[in-house]
Amino acid sequence: MANTFGKKRYYREEMDSTNTEAKRQAVGEAFHGLLVHTDHQTMGKGRQGRSWSSPKGTGIFMSLLLKPELAPQKASMLTLIAALSVADAIREMTGLFVDIKWPNDLVIKGRKVCGILTEMSTEKDAIRYVIIGIGMNVNTKEFPVELQQTATSLYIERNVFTDRNALIDCIMLKLEERYDTFIKTGDLEFMQEDYNNRLINCGRWVRVLGRDATLLLEGVAGGINKKGELLVETDDGRIEVCSGEVSVRGIYGYV
Ligand code: BTN
Repeated sequence: MANTFGKKRYYREEMDSTNTEAKRQAVGEAFHGLLVHTDHQTMGKGRQGRSWSSPKGTGIFMSLLLKPELAPQKASMLTLIAALSVADAIREMTGLFVDIKWPNDLVIKGRKVCGILTEMSTEKDAIRYVIIGIGMNVNTKEFPVELQQTATSLYIERNVFTDRNALIDCIMLKLEERYDTFIKTGDLEFMQEDYNNRLINCGRWVRVLGRDATLLLEGVAGGINKKGELLVETDDGRIEVCSGEVSVRGIYGYV
C-alpha cells in the first residue's frame, strides 16, 4: 500500500492543535494515512502535558492519522519510525545532519529542531487509531531568549529557507516505506542500526526519569533494542531496559 500517507490532506490556516483535529477527524470516517496540517496552532501540545510553541508561517505542524492492525503495546515503535524518517528527510532536503535524542526528539548540534507526540485510542485491546504529531522549527529566524540554548531551526542552521511542503512530502514517503516494513516484520530490527547511528545518547551518561520527574536510574546509554527500548548500563554492570514511559536527560542539560 505505497503512497497512502499524506495522499489525503486536511489543511486549515489555523487550528488549535493538529493532533486534536486529527482526533476529531478519526471519530468520523477519516482514512488511514490522512495528514492534518496547519500554518499556525493556537494550542499546540508537547509531550508530558507541555505546550508546543507554533508561530505562524514558520514551522511544520502536522499529524498523521493511522489505523494499523497492530497490538497496542507496539504503537510506541511508530514514534521511533517517525523520528528516523524525519531525520532522513531533513538530511536529504537540506544536507544537515540530525541526531536523535531517544525516543523522538530531533536535535542539531545539541539543540532541538523537531518533536513528536504520538497519541493512541484503543478499544478492547485493539488500536482504533494512532496519531503521530510532528512539530518542526523550519524557517524560524530567532527564538525567544529562554529557548535560544535549547531550540534551533533549519533556517538558523543553514541560513536558507526550506520549502515546507516539499519537506512534508519527503517525510511522508520515508515514513510510509519504513511503516510498511515494520507492519510486515513486527519489530524495529530492520532500522535498529540506522537509528542507533543517529542516537545522540549512545555512550553517554544519562539520568532516566519517571513521569513525575523522579530519578529512576542513571547509567551509560547503549542503543535501542529491536522493540525500540533504550538499553542503559548502570554502574554495577546491570543492563536496564527503558520503555517510552520514561524520559532521559544528559547530565549537562538537555542532551
Ligand atoms: C514534544 O514535546 O517534543 C512533542 C511536540 C509535538 C508537537 C507537534 S506540532 C503538531 C502536533 N500537534 C500538536 O499539538 N502537537 C504535535
